[in-house]
Amino acid sequence: MSQQPQALTTESGAPVADNQNSQTAGPGGPLLIQDQYLLEKLARFNRERIPERVVHARGSGAYGRFEVTADVSRFTKAHFLAEPGRRTEVFARFSTVAGNLGAADAVRDPRGFAVKFYTEEGNYDLVGNNTPIFFIKDPLKFPDFIHTQKRDPYTGSQEADNVWDFWSHSPEAIHQVTWLFGDRGIPASYRHMDGFGSHTYQWVNAEGEAFWVKYHFKTDQGIRNLTAEAAAELAGADPDSHQRDLVNAIDAGVSPSWTLKVQIMPVAEAATYRFNPFDLTKVWSHADHPLIEVGRLTLDRNPDNVFAEVEQAAFNPANFVPGIGPSPDKMLQGRLFAYADAHRYRLGVNHTQLPVNAPHAATARNHGRDGYMATNPGGRAKNYEPNSFGGPYESAAPLWASTEVSGPTGTHPAPLHAQDDDYVQAGDLYRLMTADEQARLVANLAGFLAKVSRDDIVDRVVGHFRAADRDYGDRIAAAVKELRA
Ligand code: HEM
Repeated sequence: MSQQPQALTTESGAPVADNQNSQTAGPGGPLLIQDQYLLEKLARFNRERIPERVVHARGSGAYGRFEVTADVSRFTKAHFLAEPGRRTEVFARFSTVAGNLGAADAVRDPRGFAVKFYTEEGNYDLVGNNTPIFFIKDPLKFPDFIHTQKRDPYTGSQEADNVWDFWSHSPEAIHQVTWLFGDRGIPASYRHMDGFGSHTYQWVNAEGEAFWVKYHFKTDQGIRNLTAEAAAELAGADPDSHQRDLVNAIDAGVSPSWTLKVQIMPVAEAATYRFNPFDLTKVWSHADHPLIEVGRLTLDRNPDNVFAEVEQAAFNPANFVPGIGPSPDKMLQGRLFAYADAHRYRLGVNHTQLPVNAPHAATARNHGRDGYMATNPGGRAKNYEPNSFGGPYESAAPLWASTEVSGPTGTHPAPLHAQDDDYVQAGDLYRLMTADEQARLVANLAGFLAKVSRDDIVDRVVGHFRAADRDYGDRIAAAVKELRA
């Protein structure tokens, strides 16, 4: 790209005469305070970093579109899903979870899979992962869990002791741990993995009928993973491997795409389903609730500026549009608070006015005002409601349907359904694997577990794997013993 060079200026737009030599008192003398250009440049540089995301700090983003390919209007009245052929602009961000900014991409870690749909009814954010399940089922445990994944306060490194100690006390994690240490635990790139909404959400149709729904984005590129050995090599050789892959693919005109499918459960079925349908550590069997096609997500445009558009992107699971809402999943309910709070801290109260976060196909009209860095979207309009000057008015139409509740308030564990325990689906997943897959899973788990310093932690963990499947636990115990011998 050749462009006519233009004059370099200060932040206030005045021409810069010399960008090589700072001003001094005489040729060999000290600096002058009148050199405002130097002071501005150094002070500005000191302020380039903002707080990184407390989780999912390392990530890559791209723009694209979502196109409806099948009629799902019997399940949801969401306008952007209303008819085949309808297209909506999207911005997606993929990420690792535990690593800080600058961490290597090719690591064993869940991947974030967040999509912002710029719909005509406002932005809809689906903030999921590349796994259909999660480690815990109560948001109260999230900060503790993340502390065990991040660096230890004393050693400053991730510690096998902390990771396994937490999991040894959280049997509900065993399903996700089995998933993570299996072949899909290290995707070859962001293009070669599936995405999931993971939680159960609510869809409501035009008649007001509600359904429970789970989202599945199936990669059209095919699933490709890295072995532990290949990943270790790649993480060292090119820490930015996933970022580079996504940018290069899109620049080369290879637009990655995913087919969106959903599982639907009628609301009346939820109370008697064999698993608690709002338990994030469980999947719904595809035999019980087959996948239904919805549309295609395609990414075809790289952001021009990673900081402005990816680092400052703010995805919020509480951003719903008419026809889509939350389920009573406690984890999801906790997330409905956590994200906008994180954004206000990380980006400031006016983060919704940044181009990547503002609605593109709708207009935000409300009486939220002022604060740091306001771009004055309210203009001269009255800043209260109701007002007699033509201000925006409420629709009186709830976005989603209400849900039935019963019983006393309290610190209740999630209700158990007929086939619920923390082990059944972990055991099923292990038994579904081929012998080769099982061997790699056991080796990956034992390699990490063998680093734990205390036998009581190892014994507790092995007990959980044995409860999922006797053979699974026995093989891990034997492999750990051999590695420690
Ligand atoms: C109660 C549990 C959880 C809490 C409190 C929580 C909290 C957070 C916070 C504070 C951030 C940083 C947001 C920001 O600074 O922009 C974040 C990022 C993220 N979380 Fe969670 N999280 C939870 C569970 C989950 C689950 C279950 C999933 C997936 C199903 C998930 C997916 C993501 C993704 C994809 C991002 C990165 C979004 C982006 O690309 O900007 N989180 N989470």
